[in-house]
Amino acid sequence: MSTTLAPGAAYRADRTRVAELNQRELERFAARTGRSKALLDRARNVMPAGTPMSWMAGYYMHPQLYVAGGEGARFFDVDGNAYVDMNVADLSATLGYGIPAVEEPMVRQFRNGAHYLLPTEDAVVAAHSLGRLMGLPFWQFTLAASGANTEVMRIARHITDRRKLIVFEGKYHGHIEETLVKFDGERVVPEYQGLSGRRSEDTIILPFNDLDAVAAALESREVALVLTEPALTNCSLVLPDPGYLDGLRRISAETGTMLCIDESHTHGKEDIDGYVDLLHEFMKNIK
Ligand SMILES: Cc1ncc(COP(=O)(O)O)c(C=O)c1O
Repeated sequence: MSTTLAPGAAYRADRTRVAELNQRELERFAARTGRSKALLDRARNVMPAGTPMSWMAGYYMHPQLYVAGGEGARFFDVDGNAYVDMNVADLSATLGYGIPAVEEPMVRQFRNGAHYLLPTEDAVVAAHSLGRLMGLPFWQFTLAASGANTEVMRIARHITDRRKLIVFEGKYHGHIEETLVKFDGERVVPEYQGLSGRRSEDTIILPFNDLDAVAAALESREVALVLTEPALTNCSLVLPDPGYLDGLRRISAETGTMLCIDESHTHGKEDIDGYVDLLHEFMKNIK
């Protein structure tokens, strides 16, 4: 098949061929993942859809896999197939799997007790070291970014004595009623079943990189918090226009609105050019 297109011509995929290729790959996949399939059949008896978290069942484009372990940039399924993990557990395992410098101190600490509901000296050392790295003075810890963003929203509401929240199209900020929302053409509504429509009413969704839209929405002084990633990483990658983040800072300060830069994926690299360079470097080094 020729892949050369006349200038300006639109490429039309041969859907029948795509379906054939997809079927062939699914069959290959099934032939080498028999143990995963058997585990899925067992798992369905004790977990809805056979997964410990329901989103895992619909997240991937292939039948369910069960993982046996990982090493560096790879993980292995229960059938012994190895995969290079380009997603590194949604960036929560950025350094890779089974890295001794990460795992050994964690194992040592587990042997000494996983938690005590009281602070330890390590918490003080970690807060100091984060302060040095990120240039921010005060630190609190949560078990997940959803928890951190929930706290941020409450703090902003308390400080400003306002209720509303601005997020941006293409966002994801975690398992939070107010941010699991979409614009249905008329108003902001829950994105999924089981969420409270009332909580959606507090959220305004704006286009990213549009400072005029933010300025107009903040004019009423009803917004407690603008919540954004420095670059949107949950809808492919959308970089901020030059000056956009500084503009957000300025408009928020002028209107007494709190601004939170959610760095769950960008890991303190609000200097986004630096982040993209780092990402390229990281991809080059995956072995
Ligand atoms: C930008 C952003 N914020 C928050 C979250 C929620 O993270 P967690 O699953 O740790 O609650 C995610 C998860 O991917 C994220 O990408």
